Amino acid sequence: MNVTEALSARRSCRAFKPDPVNRSVILQLLEAAARTPSWANTQPWEVYVAAGDVLQAIKDGFLERFGSGTPPCPDLPRPKSWPEEHKKRTQQLTADMALAAGEAVKQFGQLNLKGFYAPAVIYLCMDKTLTPWSIFDLGAFSQSIMLEAAQRGLSTIPAVNLVHYPDVIRRELGIPDTLSVIFGIAIGYEDTSHPINAFRSARRPAGEFAVLKGFD
Ligand SMILES: Cc1cc2nc3c(=O)[nH]c(=O)nc-3n(C[C@H](O)[C@H](O)[C@H](O)COP(=O)(O)O)c2cc1C
Repeated sequence: MNVTEALSARRSCRAFKPDPVNRSVILQLLEAAARTPSWANTQPWEVYVAAGDVLQAIKDGFLERFGSGTPPCPDLPRPKSWPEEHKKRTQQLTADMALAAGEAVKQFGQLNLKGFYAPAVIYLCMDKTLTPWSIFDLGAFSQSIMLEAAQRGLSTIPAVNLVHYPDVIRRELGIPDTLSVIFGIAIGYEDTSHPINAFRSARRPAGEFAVLKGFD
């Protein structure tokens, strides 16, 4: 699989099979992703990976928080509102998902709440004193992980829902207070029989979002 094929193969998986992912495989893909560029080679990513009982404890903690009505409080604030054009694309996403998944689209919230039944979640953290420049580095690092995973036949989903209650993640993984829990990527093997996965999100063509000038 070349890079173009991996870019095309990667898509968000919202229902995983229970099959575990080997620790060594996770380490290999993190090793590959560590080639990601970062500002002045700061490599700001600090990575914690949860599986098995540890991940279950995190999922239970999330369910407990959600059940008691605790509002999500990710370390990074959510936007207060989206620009109109962005809202339209989100509506398109929801409509496309409903069209492909039918009744199963109603499970979207539950699948999110249950961490998509993923057997492992990779949490990306960084020092609290860093700026959005380092989040840029973490974003690039995330995509490297997801492409490397795609190449190995593994599925992923980057999801803010996975970091809604960072205190729970900190507690179960022993993450120090000096680090922000920026993001979570669920990883595992896709449940291809689940209709929520029978869906591919739309994209704008490059001619719509890119301006190129000065070419012949
Ligand atoms: C920063 C970020 C946060 C996301 N959060 C969620 C989430 O909480 N739940 C979810 O189902 N998908 C989430 N996604 C997945 C996006 O919906 C998905 O990437 C987008 O619709 C494009 O689809 P694709 O990944 O299948 O290409 C998130 C993606 C990113 C990059």
